[in-house]
Amino acid sequence: MRILQVELGDRSYPVAIGTGVLARVREFVPPGVSKVAIVTQANIHHRPELGEFETRVFAVPDGEDAKSMGVAADLAEGIAEFGLSRSDLVVAVGGGVVTDLAGFVASVYYRGVRYLNVATTLLAQVDAAIGGKTGVNLPAGKNLVGSFWQPSGVICDVSTLSTLSDREFRSGLGEMAKYEFLGSGRLDRDDLESAVARCAGIKAAYVSGDEREGGRRALLNYGHTMGHALEALGLAGRSEHLYHGEAVAIGLLFAAHLARVTGRIGSEDLGSHYDVVDRMGLPDRLPDGVDVEDTFPFLERDKKAMGSITFVLRSRGSEALEVVRGIDRDDIRRAWAAMRAGDRS
Ligand SMILES: NC(=O)c1ccc[n+]([C@@H]2O[C@H](COP(=O)([O-])OP(=O)(O)OC[C@H]3O[C@@H](n4cnc5c(N)ncnc54)[C@H](O)[C@@H]3O)[C@@H](O)[C@H]2O)c1
Repeated sequence: MRILQVELGDRSYPVAIGTGVLARVREFVPPGVSKVAIVTQANIHHRPELGEFETRVFAVPDGEDAKSMGVAADLAEGIAEFGLSRSDLVVAVGGGVVTDLAGFVASVYYRGVRYLNVATTLLAQVDAAIGGKTGVNLPAGKNLVGSFWQPSGVICDVSTLSTLSDREFRSGLGEMAKYEFLGSGRLDRDDLESAVARCAGIKAAYVSGDEREGGRRALLNYGHTMGHALEALGLAGRSEHLYHGEAVAIGLLFAAHLARVTGRIGSEDLGSHYDVVDRMGLPDRLPDGVDVEDTFPFLERDKKAMGSITFVLRSRGSEALEVVRGIDRDDIRRAWAAMRAGDRS
């Protein structure tokens, strides 16, 4: 088992990565706990060993729709009925939907109780479970209600990933692909545990340096501006449904095309983005039937937009990333046309 640390002063916590870590979850239970509310989904069969505590399992619905105010309210009521006290613990066992939802409820129940994230998808292990961003969706947009509420620990047992469908696993690779542009180096040459640890280490470092995304943490959104727009169009039934990581992979390529048409990068760097995405077997084309004009309302509504369209892009002449505000719609149209045409020059 490898232990990384998210360094946030008295709110610091460990991220444990390995095989068989699920059997050791009790080592991460903070002192003073007697009851544990385990929040999970019916199709997830991995359970942490928490024998000596009084536990109750709360199964929340599957899918992005579970991240709603209604489900959060039902969960909070269930936990209250169970009699969870201020000194007790919530344990989220699942992917990003469960950790976002359970973390949000933990942050508001009794104005905040402790919680552990037991991440069971690749996407949650490398990203969603680490960093304390919790939240639910509103009809107006994803993650519009939420909080920063750090867990007491994150448990990433890579053996739990063997039960994921191929498509869910690949979706996690979409977030992993992002880390190759944030300094991870090639991840496909590592065993899975080492690759997860490298990504989780980068996430932990960014969170430790900028908990509330006032600066550098925003770079973790590389690929997410267009990714979120395409994901949202799919969820609204207006295009092919994309999993989060699939949308991020396409978003990474779009960000590279945008950097290319604005003269930030050359064709070699554009090609290196395709190399990473293709090597991981991720989608590398814009979904059929979507027009660039359909994406603008989503790009403008993006949380990070702050009044203008904002992307994370390569800095001019370097491999560094930066947040770029005030992106011109015509540049987006040009990048879209180039990507649609398969122009990698
Ligand atoms: N808070 C953050 O920093 C952050 C970062 C990235 C993504 N997210 C959020 O994460 C969510 C996506 O998370 P996800 O991709 O993990 O999807 P998910 O949580 O919906 O899980 C995908 C599916 O896999 C199932 N599942 C989970 N673990 C399993 C296992 N071990 N075996 C078999 N099935 C399993 C789930 O029940 C679900 O059906 C989105 O809502 C996104 O907004 C949050």
